[in-house]
Amino acid sequence: MRDRVKTGIAGLDKMLYGGIPEKNQIVLAGGPGTGKTLMSIEYLYKNAKDGNVGVLFSLEEERTMIIDNALAAFSSLPDLKQLIDDNKLIIHGSEETRGFIQKDAQGSSYTFGRLVTEIESILESTGANRVVIDSISIIKLLIKDMFEYRNISMSLVSVLRRMNTTAILTMEIESPERSRMLFQPEFFIYDGIVILYTGEGQGGSLRTPTLEVIKMRGTNHSFSTVPYEITPEGINILLLAEKEEYDRI
Ligand SMILES: Nc1ncnc2c1ncn2[C@@H]1O[C@H](COP(=O)(O)OP(=O)(O)O)[C@@H](O)[C@H]1O
Ligand SMILES: [Mg+2]
Repeated sequence: MRDRVKTGIAGLDKMLYGGIPEKNQIVLAGGPGTGKTLMSIEYLYKNAKDGNVGVLFSLEEERTMIIDNALAAFSSLPDLKQLIDDNKLIIHGSEETRGFIQKDAQGSSYTFGRLVTEIESILESTGANRVVIDSISIIKLLIKDMFEYRNISMSLVSVLRRMNTTAILTMEIESPERSRMLFQPEFFIYDGIVILYTGEGQGGSLRTPTLEVIKMRGTNHSFSTVPYEITPEGINILLLAEKEEYDRI
């Protein structure tokens, strides 16, 4: 069996029969506010606590916003601030990363070559092997040409792989539907896809978000769609009652 990188997220490692296969590059897709950023931060946090340095590259939010939100939402996670201050959980915010996204010579389209090389050199200098890119949606938004988008995505994946990282790339999707995701280019480019569904409140009931693993190269995984909650101690995935499928680990 391939070595596993534990996400540390309660329930998710069970669904993945032990964790993300090492050096997989996976997509965490979902609507706005579903907890993609927080879940990614918890992944880096748990790994940093175990001594594995991680980097979050945000293409959307400023560093202070990310840190303030994470500390507020995860108020009971010990040492979160300390790990950030000690550069065990490194955060590069949008105020920095937007400088890596450039227009081409004609000024008519965007290029992401610099972003990929900057990511590579930061990984080289920090020795980090846990990575989050939050989110790749901006790349898709700015690169209209699907062939070009695929090329950029592949070069990003190849750098992340070459640097021996196990990475989560978040992706904003409008209407999270399994069937639509199956035909997106990301389904073929990345090693795994996890979807967060917003959940529809019915008759005034609370909206319960759910999570589903729809693809994970290198391992079998749970096929259940399970509810989760964002708590001060971290994300809590509410596994269905003791199902046999988790007994394998
Ligand atoms: N301080 C907090 N306490 C509890 N829940 C929070 C807090 N801050 C954010 N959340 C929850 O986290 C969600 C946002 O998480 P986030 O990871 O930023 O979502 P995404 O990246 O998918 O847009 C909010 O919709 C809310 O449900
Ligand atoms: Mg986010």
